[in-house]
Amino acid sequence: MHNFGYETTAAEVADAFSNQIKGKTILITGPTPGGIGYTTAHTIASHNPHCLILAGRSLSTLSATKSSILSSLPQGTNPPPIKLLVLDLANLEQVREAAEEVNAYEEKVDVLINNAGVTGLGWGTGEAAGGKGVEKHFLINHLGPFLFTNLLLPRMVDERGEKAERARVVMVASRGYRFGGVRFDDWNFENGRAYVPVQAYAQSKSANILCALSLAEKLKGKGLLAYSLHPGSIWTNISRHTKTEDLRLPGWTDQNRNLTDNGNVKWKTLEQGAATQVLAAFDPNIEGEFLKPRLHLLANGDYLEDCAVRMDELKSIAPRLLDKGDAERLWKLSEELVGQEFDY
Ligand SMILES: NC(=O)c1ccc[n+]([C@@H]2O[C@H](COP(=O)([O-])OP(=O)(O)OC[C@H]3O[C@@H](n4cnc5c(N)ncnc54)[C@H](OP(=O)(O)O)[C@@H]3O)[C@@H](O)[C@H]2O)c1
Repeated sequence: MHNFGYETTAAEVADAFSNQIKGKTILITGPTPGGIGYTTAHTIASHNPHCLILAGRSLSTLSATKSSILSSLPQGTNPPPIKLLVLDLANLEQVREAAEEVNAYEEKVDVLINNAGVTGLGWGTGEAAGGKGVEKHFLINHLGPFLFTNLLLPRMVDERGEKAERARVVMVASRGYRFGGVRFDDWNFENGRAYVPVQAYAQSKSANILCALSLAEKLKGKGLLAYSLHPGSIWTNISRHTKTEDLRLPGWTDQNRNLTDNGNVKWKTLEQGAATQVLAAFDPNIEGEFLKPRLHLLANGDYLEDCAVRMDELKSIAPRLLDKGDAERLWKLSEELVGQEFDY
């Protein structure tokens, strides 16, 4: 039994589950230097994966990540093959092109870590199916990953050999789910009139949690494992759009956007922040069933924080994030907005 917790680092988790990383093809979205996905990719790279696929919207950023990974591998480590994939989650047509590119690779993806995300954006929309305008956090943090994941899933689950380990999808959500759920009847915030950035972020991250539940429920028979998680509070580039007054979370920053130590937030290092992703992606201690009582094992569809299952907290704070009806409602809405149905 591993004694993982708040201060555990990604390297410690990866060391413990090195055998599960070895030989796998792992796709990570949003591995920009200075971010959690970058640290995750860096950490995994030294454990002999079959292939790493780094997906992001800028090829030059992806190249910088690749060079940094390859130049800092521990001595004696075999450099893993690293593929770079242009993926812009704000553009659903481009998401389709990216998925097509991945599906044409010889390798099939074993583990998909949907890490890319944005927060703190001012009001704005991007285009969904049929030219519909969709609020940008919902588009980039939820609809883009929803479409990308569903387009990759057939190969991820169907090409699994009889004895192979189960494919996994990890949705990097946020504890920010506490600041608002999915507004099923008004996901566009009265077309911007009722817009509050932190609630838009919360809506998209609540959607990540519900999406993991749906994936677990719909694809458990095909052997898929799906998890969602909060990485912790880590000072990364993601806060570059965030205005303190927009955040409306007391204690995070002072008026000059400097970090404060006296608030409710206990900050993690990047290495600590990447730990829960690595655990969700590779921990072999899993239960086979959906939403059954559990102690230390991961059950399919679980939500994690600090390298531990946090379903009880979710249940008491936001019970609708465990509601299968809401998960299905979101699935249907998402299908409508991306213009494609996914039946499993
Ligand atoms: N940091 C925290 O405290 C915290 C807390 C809770 C949850 N999270 C979650 O953790 C994940 C990683 O965040 P981070 O803190 O590491 O932030 P980050 O360093 O800004 O990383 C976010 C990544 O998402 C990418 N991205 C943004 N828009 C995209 C788009 N349209 N298409 C494709 N990729 C896009 C960014 O690419 P560019 O470099 O091109 O912008 C970047 O690679 C996010 O899902 C976030 O919501 C973070």
